[in-house]
Amino acid sequence: MNQNNFYKDKICLVTGANSGIGYALSEELLNRGATVYMAGRNPEKVAKAAEQLAEQKDKVHTLVVDVTKQEQVQQAIEGTAAETGGLDMLFNNAGVGLTLPYENTTLESWQQLINTNLWSVIYGVHAAVPIMLKQGSGYIVNTSSIGGLVPVPFQSSYNCTKYAITGLTESLRYEYAEKGLHFSAICPAYVASEIYSKEPDGTVRQERKTPESAYPADKAASYVLGKIAEYKGIIIVPEEPYADLWKGYILGDQKVEEFISQLAHLRREAFETGGDFTAMPPLP
Ligand SMILES: NC(=O)c1ccc[n+]([C@@H]2O[C@H](COP(=O)([O-])OP(=O)(O)OC[C@H]3O[C@@H](n4cnc5c(N)ncnc54)[C@H](OP(=O)(O)O)[C@@H]3O)[C@@H](O)[C@H]2O)c1
Repeated sequence: MNQNNFYKDKICLVTGANSGIGYALSEELLNRGATVYMAGRNPEKVAKAAEQLAEQKDKVHTLVVDVTKQEQVQQAIEGTAAETGGLDMLFNNAGVGLTLPYENTTLESWQQLINTNLWSVIYGVHAAVPIMLKQGSGYIVNTSSIGGLVPVPFQSSYNCTKYAITGLTESLRYEYAEKGLHFSAICPAYVASEIYSKEPDGTVRQERKTPESAYPADKAASYVLGKIAEYKGIIIVPEEPYADLWKGYILGDQKVEEFISQLAHLRREAFETGGDFTAMPPLP
């Protein structure tokens, strides 16, 4: 199919749509002719985000959904499908980050991370698969992370949720291929968004800035949608040089081993001295 028509008139639901990657995906989906249901947990934020896309007013809708609540996710997905006659694409994108030494990560933080990042995706898949099986078509796109492919020290709880998402998505991709259902895992590495300054509850800490070198979210969304239209399973963005990092890690490349060890060392030092834990050694 012509890439330009892939998204035309598709009914898409995007979670975590009021900011960052979710917002950029929503905007780019609209640009490509889709109808988008933008879901967010905060009614004001999601309404404001949709207003910014008001040019496509008739094609943009909002939903208030806390993705940690199964019944809200179920209702949003079933409600959208009932209203429009089907659901073509679900983007399980909402998520939160956490960078902390393992010994400082409380069980409450673990639960919050797993509920927000992993259960949310399971709830989404659980609600959407029956609808898509009935249709004989559908596409579920889950936002994982480069941290769902490569270990990131001091992000063990985050890593844990994102590895699970990659595994879930890839497993289902093969399981349902013959049923006309498609799955992709987006694995962002370093994309500009509020995630760098946000606490898991959504509070923005102004003193924490998004690194200037982070990849622009709109470019990331455009790249990702191009790869989805090619039915690519794992989509790393920005691909260079992170795809090489992933391959090097799997193959046991010594330089990648050293890079990850050095990252662990820098982060341990930063936490013990109150320094900048976003500092990264040069990529191999
Ligand atoms: N940016 C990167 O470099 C990067 C790298 C790897 C993976 N990712 C993944 O990309 C996805 C999007 O993150 P982002 O970078 O675009 O950051 P972001 O701008 O902070 O977006 C995250 C979105 O998820 C929403 N959210 C959080 N908890 C929620 C809940 N309980 N219910 C509903 N929505 C909730 C947030 O809503 P509020 O605005 O209300 O907080 C926000 O809209 C996440 O899954 C993240 O893990 C990002």
